[in-house]
Amino acid sequence: MSQTDDRQRDLIANLDFHVEAGLDLFLDETPHDRFNEADAPEAAQNAPMRVSPEPAPREEPFRTELPPRGATLPAQNRTFGQSAAARPGEAAGDARARARDVGSLEELEALLAGFDGCPLKFTAKNLVFADGNPAAKLMFIGEAPGADEDRIGKPFMGRSGKLLDRMMAAVGLDRTSAYVTNIVPWRPPGNRNPTPQEVAICKPFIERQIELADPDLIVCLGSPATQAITGTKDGILKARGRFYLYRVGEREIRVLATLHPAYLLRQPLQKRLAWRDFRTLRAALDGKA
Ligand code: URA
Repeated sequence: MSQTDDRQRDLIANLDFHVEAGLDLFLDETPHDRFNEADAPEAAQNAPMRVSPEPAPREEPFRTELPPRGATLPAQNRTFGQSAAARPGEAAGDARARARDVGSLEELEALLAGFDGCPLKFTAKNLVFADGNPAAKLMFIGEAPGADEDRIGKPFMGRSGKLLDRMMAAVGLDRTSAYVTNIVPWRPPGNRNPTPQEVAICKPFIERQIELADPDLIVCLGSPATQAITGTKDGILKARGRFYLYRVGEREIRVLATLHPAYLLRQPLQKRLAWRDFRTLRAALDGKA
């Protein structure tokens, strides 16, 4: 291969990388540090989740509207800064109102497929709603889809999904005995973490998903899922192995926090901690913890 071929290949790989990261998409006229914006609805940042109706969070002058690749936007979404989707507080209120109205997981999936309030939808290839058995008494909740999940349209399909499957198998579980989903159903471009605003917008949907799936036990994989679902501010190394209670009306569902498989792929020595948590999970399923 000539030097020119090498250069061309490098340039194409570089361009692919930037497109994957979402850099071909126009977000706004000025750059924003989304992680430092303090306008996520309070409920998403502090309080334990409640499934009971809440007032819509306050509005903030925050613009994040994003056109889908090559798609025609609905009329109300065509002007930057004017639609409900342009403000995370409004979008979260809208999501909450809509999520309340659906009566089944199928309806919730259809609602999400038509929901334009989260900008991640417009950079993702697919909605990643859930996998596994919706009637199972055990529900795993991760953070957000990655590239494989985005391509396939199902959660935990890539390397961390394979590890999750092995961890489940080690305690006699598989995707017929568990329901698997994420707190955010669209892939953040370039596999970045979802911002607090994106989590807040999607939160009413995962709340409703929990309510409709009605599991006896939830396992949160990693810190973002644990913090969003339990309201704890503790990091995952402190939160893991503990049970929390998640309220749905009068019902309390136990939540066990553990390490995310993607973290375990990077830190294989920590698998011993996850193994302890999965034994706790097995004991809880057997009524012994
Ligand atoms: N990581 C997650 O948190 N969820 C997935 O679906 C895949 C990887």
